[in-house]
Amino acid sequence: MTKKILVENINDSLKNCKELEQGNILFFEKIPFEFPQDEIQFLLQQRQSGSKSRKNIACKPQIDKLTNHIAANEEEAKQMHAILKAYSSRVTQFLQTLLSPYSSKWKLDYASFRPYQEMGRKLRTRARNDLLHVDSFPTRPMHGGRILRFFTNINPKEPRKWITSEPFQDLIKKYGGKPGLPFPHGVDYSFQGRMLHKTKEWLKSIGFKIPMRSPYDRFMLNMHNYLKENEAFQKGCPKSHWEFPPNSCWAVFTDQVSHAAISGQYALEQTIFIPRDALLYPEESPVSILERITGKCMVSV
Ligand SMILES: [Fe+2]
Repeated sequence: MTKKILVENINDSLKNCKELEQGNILFFEKIPFEFPQDEIQFLLQQRQSGSKSRKNIACKPQIDKLTNHIAANEEEAKQMHAILKAYSSRVTQFLQTLLSPYSSKWKLDYASFRPYQEMGRKLRTRARNDLLHVDSFPTRPMHGGRILRFFTNINPKEPRKWITSEPFQDLIKKYGGKPGLPFPHGVDYSFQGRMLHKTKEWLKSIGFKIPMRSPYDRFMLNMHNYLKENEAFQKGCPKSHWEFPPNSCWAVFTDQVSHAAISGQYALEQTIFIPRDALLYPEESPVSILERITGKCMVSV
């Protein structure tokens, strides 16, 4: 089961990476980098629409764009964008020390601000954060890479509360290959399979929004949905409860550690993709486990 590891030495990057790859949470009692109070105050004062079904405010580095922010005026929109970009850059710089073995190969994904109270949030089942799941992104396939997330609770009073359950390597043994979570067939190297792949690549190159999902991505998306929709699992699985107090930070591989955010408001988060060949133990990554169990190749090589 997952452990919460208080990080004592940020320079011991091999140990830090090892803890993460073993399915543990790296924890910091205080924000371990500069975060100006005026930026925190700005974030805490954001009043988004009353609808709790709205998505988190996201800063997308590849297109330098902010999404889902309801700003009172252009100045406020610019300030929100600048603060999220600054957060992203400070986290990235910090992680370059904390997790240096990954940094030459990782790919920066979204930074987000989560201004909504998680408890009682009205979302459709597959979008709910308070149901245990492993992460998988429908629009950003990983092709065997890992989803690393770094969180910061900027709420001045309230902790962010999480539950975790069994890790991917145990969940796949229990539920993989059963009705509702069949194992994928592996990469289709037949003539038709290759033609279909080329056609999708071409459509994507001319502007169609086609997620190029590998068999691994399809399985992970299925597992995400299967776990959230499985009431027996949600009720009966073993659970660990965690509290992340005000001004604390934590990092975890969310594609491996099944997790749910059950309460808390005002958190920031940075996602980073870690390719399989950057890991210390690539053979223990979810894609390698899936390939070993099925005996099939799950990502195009
Ligand atoms: Fe998640």
